[in-house]
Amino acid sequence: MKKMISPSMMCADFLNLGNDIRDMEACGIEYLHIDIMDGVFVPNFTLGTDYIKKLHKASSIPLDLHLMVSDVDNKLNWFEFGEGDYVAIHAEACTHIQRALALIRSKGAKAMLALNPATSLNVLDEILPDLDGILIMTVNPGYAGQKLIPQTLEKIARLRNYLDSNGYGHIDIEVDGNVSFENARKMSDAGANIFVAGSSSMFMPGVPLSEGIAKLREAIN
Ligand code: DX5
Ligand code: ZN
Repeated sequence: MKKMISPSMMCADFLNLGNDIRDMEACGIEYLHIDIMDGVFVPNFTLGTDYIKKLHKASSIPLDLHLMVSDVDNKLNWFEFGEGDYVAIHAEACTHIQRALALIRSKGAKAMLALNPATSLNVLDEILPDLDGILIMTVNPGYAGQKLIPQTLEKIARLRNYLDSNGYGHIDIEVDGNVSFENARKMSDAGANIFVAGSSSMFMPGVPLSEGIAKLREAIN
């Protein structure tokens, strides 16, 4: 499977965003990961609906929306997305998961289900046909700069094996949280193929983005 990088835009330098986006385009970045936090599902606030609109206009890189919001069944309608974008909803925040995934696809986007570290893979059993991707949280969502929860590595491997052996090998596995160069290599070996690059890799003070991206590509391929 193609290995892809999705930079965590909450970690980007907001005062230099235009230049950073140009650099990411030049480096062939596949997605822009947008963390939406509502202060209820996770104890933090981050990017929102207007930011998504502006980013859609500012770049042709598809967006990778990560909705860390409660009652996502209703809030899903607040966000603008379409062809080529990925939209991840959390299993823990959604009552009608199948309906929400189908709604995402009906707008031309790709549907992803996000699972917190403590959420079992069993939740996937009945909805595999509705999924384009699965987001495995490798930290508890809410903040950048946390440490990897080690048992999530084995979870990725178990998921890759489960998908492959049930005829769903085309489903992407995205990983989010402490995707350092070292952890990215392990996650890639376990079967992940979309990597959220945050403060652990691409966004390190004093290191050009292109350098971090090249190092991350080397780790995952
Ligand atoms: C929350 C975010 C964080 C973060 C990732 O969902 O996506 O996980 O920005 O970057 P790190 O963990 O490297 O700071
Ligand atoms: Zn995220």
